[in-house]
Amino acid sequence: MITLTNITKTYAQSSYAAVNDVSLTVREGTTVALIGPSGCGKTTLLRMLNRLVDPSSGKIEIDGRDIAQSDPVEHRRGIGYVIQQVGLFPHMTIAENIGAVPSLLGWDRKKTLRRVEELFDIVGLDAGEFARRYPKQLSGGQQQRVGVARALAADPPVLLMDEPFGAIDPIARARLQDELKLILSKVSKTVIVVTHDLDEAIKLGDGVAILREGRLIQYETPEAILSHPADEFVEDFVGADRAVRRLSLFRVSDVMTRGGLQVAGSRSIAASLNLREALSQMISHDVDELSVTVDGAVGGFITKKAIMTV
Ligand SMILES: Nc1ncnc2c1ncn2[C@@H]1O[C@H](COP(=O)(O)OP(=O)(O)OP(=O)(O)O)[C@@H](O)[C@H]1O
Ligand SMILES: [Mg+2]
Repeated sequence: MITLTNITKTYAQSSYAAVNDVSLTVREGTTVALIGPSGCGKTTLLRMLNRLVDPSSGKIEIDGRDIAQSDPVEHRRGIGYVIQQVGLFPHMTIAENIGAVPSLLGWDRKKTLRRVEELFDIVGLDAGEFARRYPKQLSGGQQQRVGVARALAADPPVLLMDEPFGAIDPIARARLQDELKLILSKVSKTVIVVTHDLDEAIKLGDGVAILREGRLIQYETPEAILSHPADEFVEDFVGADRAVRRLSLFRVSDVMTRGGLQVAGSRSIAASLNLREALSQMISHDVDELSVTVDGAVGGFITKKAIMTV
């Protein structure tokens, strides 16, 4: 569990607080997406958690221990950190970059190599192609994947990610988000992920924290943020299409009618897809209902009306 209590950071020679009296708890094994306009203090907050920046006041605890009392280097070893500008070690190969923390922790060569192979797989890069290259020989998006792999390498209990997928195209990005979600569902990690992308925040976060000018404006479930924005700022931030975004939080299986009449020749959608996708299909094919397939076989139907009631 990560607990911030009244955390404020005012940089030297600065006339305002970059982070202003923020209190926030992240339960163990959950993910919080931190979102807000440029300059609102997101990176500063992560850097304080990692002890790269010291708070001006307030207290940060991880599992009940005040991190100000920890040895900074030791502290950082327990935290996977993906920084905004990727920050790979330029003179190390990609494989060495990914294996950097396990090596530091004294893992034997064989175990490190096996782990590095596994991570190439997880982030969708071909080890044969990339292992021996240097960071500057990779595209920005490829470097970001390596950054994510490196942060996951030693399986740290806490993961801090600063716009981990910022430079990655929408398709690869969606894949990586799904991959990350899958990883997080298998292993228990406490995660804070910074993003500019509301859909990414909704997809990844058990909770979404919205910052504005250093202050925490709203911290709730994605569903609560979308259905009850705390104020006008959040309302503007989540956008006029928040009702449509909210549909992505529910699956077809949540509102489908099981069994029942099958409409001959109707289009079908998988029960595992979300309601935003279902509505989008209805609109593009100009129909008011779809059959729903469960494990490949038709198992019921879903209507536009049912979608509108969630
Ligand atoms: N080392 C520093 N010295 C002085 N001011 C700083 C320093 N680092 C950041 N700031 C200021 O603190 C505020 C918060 O910056 P921060 O980098 O935390 O924002 P951010 O939310 O991560 O923005 P972005 O979305 O653009 O990455 C900004 O006004 C910034 O100018
Ligand atoms: Mg930042």
